[in-house]
Amino acid sequence: MTARLHTPAPQSTVATRLAVTGGEPIVPRGYTLRSVWPRISEDVISRVLAQLRSGLLTEMAALRTVREFESEMAAYHRVRYALATNSGTAALHCALAGVGVEPGDEVVVPALSFIASVAAVIHQQGIPVFADVDPLTYNVTANSIQAALTERTKAVLVVHLHGLPADLDAIRAVTEPRGIPIIEDFAQAVGATYHGRPVGSIGAAGAASLMAGKNLPAGGEGGIVITGDRELRNRAVQLKCFGEAVAVDDDYTLVHETMGWNYRISLLAAVMASQQLFQLDELNTLRREGAAVLDRTLAGLPGFSPPEAIPDVEHVYHMYRFRFDPEAAGLSIDRDQAREALKQVFAAEGVPLVEFQNVPLPGHALMQRRVGYGRGCPWTCHGRGDLHYDIHDYPGALDAIRGSLVVGAPTQAAVANPEAVARYVECFEKVAANLRSFELFAAELDARAPWDNPARLF
Ligand SMILES: Cc1ncc(COP(=O)(O)O)c(C=O)c1O
Repeated sequence: MTARLHTPAPQSTVATRLAVTGGEPIVPRGYTLRSVWPRISEDVISRVLAQLRSGLLTEMAALRTVREFESEMAAYHRVRYALATNSGTAALHCALAGVGVEPGDEVVVPALSFIASVAAVIHQQGIPVFADVDPLTYNVTANSIQAALTERTKAVLVVHLHGLPADLDAIRAVTEPRGIPIIEDFAQAVGATYHGRPVGSIGAAGAASLMAGKNLPAGGEGGIVITGDRELRNRAVQLKCFGEAVAVDDDYTLVHETMGWNYRISLLAAVMASQQLFQLDELNTLRREGAAVLDRTLAGLPGFSPPEAIPDVEHVYHMYRFRFDPEAAGLSIDRDQAREALKQVFAAEGVPLVEFQNVPLPGHALMQRRVGYGRGCPWTCHGRGDLHYDIHDYPGALDAIRGSLVVGAPTQAAVANPEAVARYVECFEKVAANLRSFELFAAELDARAPWDNPARLF
């Protein structure tokens, strides 16, 4: 929960003036708005302690425990198979190997996501091809994927960014006739549903992160692959564990048939995630309630827009990203000044906002330098050394980055904390009540496009 929060400040002029112009900040100076995540119940602690006391801490030592966790994840997602890994990036890599991506194959990846979505493709020596995102949903669309498909496309990786499911029916209408499998990266969307189905379970495979900051947090790092396809699952198992032959009973064989890594999950992470699964839906509901409060506030304020709400699609708000349009608010400042001013104004009030990414994925050094594993591989090793990525080919991603910000403190926790949500509401309303001084403050800023700064996360 929130650490050391204050009682509401009296409505004096100083209290209602923006802190950047000499008013009292919403979170008093010397205090920090910090929401705790993950929420670790006593049940989780007892379960992890019991595992620790058992001394069985590896998959090999406690295979049954890992298999039980995998069965729970499979059941929750209504698929046959789940495969626990030691990170979401590893899970993505396993899923890519599972659908049969081989060196030189093209894989379509959203232009806006966390770096792992594309790094996993390069790990498998695939060639990433980017699809633009919709500037309002922040997700790829059927049209942008269609535009990115070529003869060499082996798979399409769809990210449900910030917890909002992408439009999978429309995307499948494009990929299925060409026999191209979809991998769902649901790292930010565990527990979200699309037309009643859990995300991750709709494509050929789903891969998610169970890192401690995610909606379903394992202790530290972890990941999961889910699929209904036995062959796919077995290829993923081989990559996960030293390329070992897969036994009929799914035990280890110690026969190394092919190339593989060690992507096995720690037992402590597995049991923690297993216990957390019991409270996933409840905490996602809490997120939705927090988001609804913010939605109602923003819908009534000039220039602000809450995240898109799509019928029959359940968002789980891993992050709460809103848009601000200064023109719609009647302000004579540009969007870069407005975004920069919002960041500074909210920070001064003690309720931080972040960009999440300031550059689309194709603009990160990994894509710009294309060093890969050295000597430019996989690009140069597969006749694609001439491939260059230009962020201006992705206007939707640029618009999203320029026109929106994410609620922080930290990003994955604030929306699940009603106290923090209340402080953000106060701040949005304070800005709206002080639009002229906000405009004057913003007009003084020498703001530039976010992508003119070095690429970074947050
Ligand atoms: C969209 C997305 N994909 C993949 C990952 C990678 O997960 P991990 O950090 O567990 O490797 C993340 C995590 O941060 C993510 O946000």
